Amino acid sequence: MGAPVSELLIAGGTVVTADRMEPADVLIRDGRIADVGQDLTTEGEVLDATGHWVMPGGIDTHTHLAHPIDRLGITTADDFFTGTVAGACGGVTTIIDFSLQRRGETLALARDRRLGEIAPDAVIDYGFHTIVTDVRDDVIAEVPELIEGGFPSFKVYMTYGDKIVNDDGLLRLLEATGANGGLVYAHCENDCAVTYLINQHLSDGKTGPAYHAPSRPPVVEAEATHRAIMLAGVVDAPLCIAHVTSSGAAGHVAAARERGEPVVAETCPQYLVLDETVYDPCGGFEVAKFVCSPPMRAAEHRDALWSALADGSIQQVSSDHAPFRYHDQKTTGRDNFTRIPNGLPGIETRLPLVFAGGVSTGLISPQRFVELASTNPARIFGMYPRKGTLDAGADADVIVVDPEAETEIDAARLHSAVDYSPFQGMRVSGFPTWTLSRGEVIVDRGEPVAERGRGRLAERGRIDPAALP
Ligand code: URP
Ligand code: ZN
Ligand code: ZN
Repeated sequence: MGAPVSELLIAGGTVVTADRMEPADVLIRDGRIADVGQDLTTEGEVLDATGHWVMPGGIDTHTHLAHPIDRLGITTADDFFTGTVAGACGGVTTIIDFSLQRRGETLALARDRRLGEIAPDAVIDYGFHTIVTDVRDDVIAEVPELIEGGFPSFKVYMTYGDKIVNDDGLLRLLEATGANGGLVYAHCENDCAVTYLINQHLSDGKTGPAYHAPSRPPVVEAEATHRAIMLAGVVDAPLCIAHVTSSGAAGHVAAARERGEPVVAETCPQYLVLDETVYDPCGGFEVAKFVCSPPMRAAEHRDALWSALADGSIQQVSSDHAPFRYHDQKTTGRDNFTRIPNGLPGIETRLPLVFAGGVSTGLISPQRFVELASTNPARIFGMYPRKGTLDAGADADVIVVDPEAETEIDAARLHSAVDYSPFQGMRVSGFPTWTLSRGEVIVDRGEPVAERGRGRLAERGRIDPAALP
């Protein structure tokens, strides 16, 4: 297997989508779903899915592949080949990564540079959000063209010195995106409070990695989340909150949604399966493996996030895959935790961690799992119904998973170009036996078989606030 075929039947499995779970076959023709039903036949190839669940491929809308951290002169460890191979092995068939507008640049320049970087390497389909760092009049004027061209989402950092956008810039961007079918995707932390707390820790000689978390407590996230939601309300624009980690931020999202505002949110596996104990100072510099922003929280926040996933107030789970090697990249901050590159690897383990932590435990249904990992990301970011479903006409992006097959996460067996996993030793199920992208088997019995560069730019349309999940 591995070469594209014009017709392929996935036979004998249980189809799980956001709205159903039933024994059914899936017929794929020319890279698209042709039919889903009982006792389908084909003249083409047959993939025997007996004992497996057949689901839409995962969509990870928050990855940082080949992502430059200019402040530290470091780039994330995965390029678009290693990162997308790792994704495919973890059941991901589409990513939305980021292009970075550096100050002084246009958005179009950032887009074109990124397209050139992704195209030769990606093995799965891709898009990217435009990180806006310099909100000028001419940049605001570019927004409609970016949206029209299939780049409807714009990332804003409310913290990080070289990328921060202030309230004025955020409001202007919200207005321009809201008026043109776009969406702002916001990293919410109060920069003044973070800077104050960092300086306090450093001046007290608290320079080790364990002091990263107390420099970014839940309140700084909750405040910025609330502010972003309020500003979006001023101009009646849709908003997606990135990586919600705490009950306070989740509560602001839930309250906005109860008021009928077009606000959606994501969380990430690290906030669902880890907690603040990873920052125990007794861990020495190894604690740097868990330095990400926002940081992991006390266990009650983790429980609140699972509840928010189950009750619908958080709509998607992304990885925020930002991999840095421990031995020579995280160590940049050996003497000062503010110089540890922020981020964790997770593109390959996202689906198994949510499957094991949510479906296997009964916290969420299999259908809700599909919704969180695939259907809602497609809906939020303008790809539905071409992606995120197994309905006829959709791209045949499919994962075939044995729900009973348990594995222990081991960095040595993962495909990312990073030297550790924050989830080392955890027992999970939900790794795909097969991953198909547009009808082509790209992971065969757990082994990647995709040709470098076969991924394509995923078509993305305007975002309708009324159609957000
Ligand atoms: O610590 C994290 N999450 N690093 C990646 C960049 C970001 O904040 O999204
Ligand atoms: Zn972020
Ligand atoms: Zn991120």
